[in-house]
Amino acid sequence: MEQTLVLIKPDAIANKHIGDIIKHYEEAGFKIAAMKLMQMTEKIASIHYAEHIGKSFYDELVKFMTDDPIVAMVLEGENAIAKVREINGATNPANAADGTIRKLYAENGSRNAVHASDSAESAAREIAIFFSKVEMVG
Ligand code: CMP
Repeated sequence: MEQTLVLIKPDAIANKHIGDIIKHYEEAGFKIAAMKLMQMTEKIASIHYAEHIGKSFYDELVKFMTDDPIVAMVLEGENAIAKVREINGATNPANAADGTIRKLYAENGSRNAVHASDSAESAAREIAIFFSKVEMVG
């Protein structure tokens, strides 16, 4: 069993797609091991997006992610990391496969509806940023 961190981003929340997005993960069989609606602070953004500090899109990314609430969740299941990224689709919705969350709900490559961890190392690191042990079930 693997765990992965998913963030539903402010664009998807503004467009009222929280339920639609969670449905994709539930229908794929994933267990929700933790979940909360929260405000991402600049501090949390700088830790979560540490690898992007200094990139051209970093300031815009942080403003977008901190201006409005996000939903953070931990999904659990077999091959969760790769499967959830497949369900999400390519970073830019223009390149995302039909039926993926980003194809259906993302606005563009920056306001792209969801985030998911890209490796086991990232998942462990990112889950610890957003959730304490007592916030996780099972
Ligand atoms: P995510 O997978 O959550 O992690 C990094 C985020 O940076 C990415 O989704 C996008 O929201 C954003 N991002 C990545 N590349 C670009 C880009 N070229 N221009 C703007 N935003 C980007």
